[in-house]
Amino acid sequence: MRAFYGAGGSGRRQVRHRRDTGSGIFAPDDQGRGTPARSCITPVDKVGAAAITTIEALERDPVGRQVQKAWFDLEVVQCGYCPSGQLMSAAALLASNPNPNDADIDAAMSGNICRCGTYPRIRAAIKQAARAIAKAREEG
Ligand code: FES
Repeated sequence: MRAFYGAGGSGRRQVRHRRDTGSGIFAPDDQGRGTPARSCITPVDKVGAAAITTIEALERDPVGRQVQKAWFDLEVVQCGYCPSGQLMSAAALLASNPNPNDADIDAAMSGNICRCGTYPRIRAAIKQAARAIAKAREEG
């Protein structure tokens, strides 16, 4: 296990006990293809030996870096309550689906609640990140 949620990083949220928000999501990582999981309801012993990616490590991942950049470029964040979970879910989506359509995005992000209602910007940011990742891959 490379890291685990709550290891002293900045991604922790006070709301993590609420299983319905998606704000405390981490992505158990299997060869770079993580499946988002809610840290508030996933015991560490259920993760086993799988590596875990947290929000703190997202910038070291090429997909995660583009997702973070798109969030910043499009000024997605308003209050800062939901971004950790949103970013982790978006990165996991783009790691498994490099060109998601609106339905793919809505399905992948459906567990993440944004009380500020930034959903249109979240969708736009995911599409921007997808384009940037594709361009980077073309350029080698
Ligand atoms: S930015 Fe405020 S809850 Fe999403």
